[in-house]
Formats: sequence, C-alpha cells, structure tokens
Amino acid sequence: MEKTLLIIKPDATRRNLIGHIISRLEKAGFEIVEMRMERLTPAKAQKFYAVHEGKPFLDSLVEFMSSGPVVPILLRKQNAVADLRTLIGATDPAKAPCGTLRQEIALNIQENSVHASDSPENAAVEIAFFFG
Ligand code: CMP
Repeated sequence: MEKTLLIIKPDATRRNLIGHIISRLEKAGFEIVEMRMERLTPAKAQKFYAVHEGKPFLDSLVEFMSSGPVVPILLRKQNAVADLRTLIGATDPAKAPCGTLRQEIALNIQENSVHASDSPENAAVEIAFFFG
C-alpha cells in the first residue's frame, strides 16, 4: 500500500465541495487515513510551495492558498500517487481530461481545487509537512 497527500484548496472549500471531493476519492478506492481543516498562514503556504520559489505565480498562489480554509488529507491505496494524479487531471483544468476532478470543478490554473503529491518521494515530504 502506498500513501499520498491531497489538499482541498480554498476555492473548493468556499464552494462547499469538500463532501463531493471526498466522495470521489472514496469511490475511486482511496482510504482516508488522516484529515483536518486548517487556514494556512502565508508563511506556511510559502513553505509548502518552496519548490516554486522564483516562479512568477508564487506570490499570487500563496495569497490564494491562505485566503480560506484548506483540507489536507492523507490517503492510502495501492499505486496511490499515480492513481490520484490520474483522478485529478492536469494542473490547468482546460487541459484536464474529461471526467477528472479538476476538469469537473476547478476554476482556472491557480484555483484548481486540489493539490496532489507528484511522486512517492514528495508524498513523504508533504505528508510529514502536514501530519508529522
Ligand atoms: P498544485 O498542483 O498545487 O501545484 C502548484 C500550484 O501552483 C498549482 O497547483 C496551481 O495552483 C499553481 N500554478 C501552477 N502553474 C500556474 C500558473 N502558470 N499560473 C498560476 N498558478 C499556477
């Protein structure tokens, strides 16, 4: 069994989509191991996205991610990292395949409703970031 991290972003919590997203995860066979709701400080959002240091969208991303509650969720499943990336679709919802979560509910490339770890290595780092 593999673990990965998903974050429900402020655009989705604002639109009352937490239950919908969790339902999609459970229907796809993911087990919820841990979850909570929190409001990220700009400093914590900046630290989480440190890998994007220097990118033109970072300041706006930090402002967005600290604009409302987020829901980090620790998930478990066989092939969890790759399967979750497939379930959510591309970063830009305009490029996300039909039937993916982002194609269905994301607003734009920044307010794209969910984040998912992109490798088992980053999943371990991101899980430790939120759940110790
Ligand atoms: P996420 O999967 O959380 O990883 C980094 C985030 O940065 C991404 O989702 C988007 O929310 C945001 N992002 C990535 N590329 C862009 C971009 N070109 N313009 C604005 N935001 C972006």
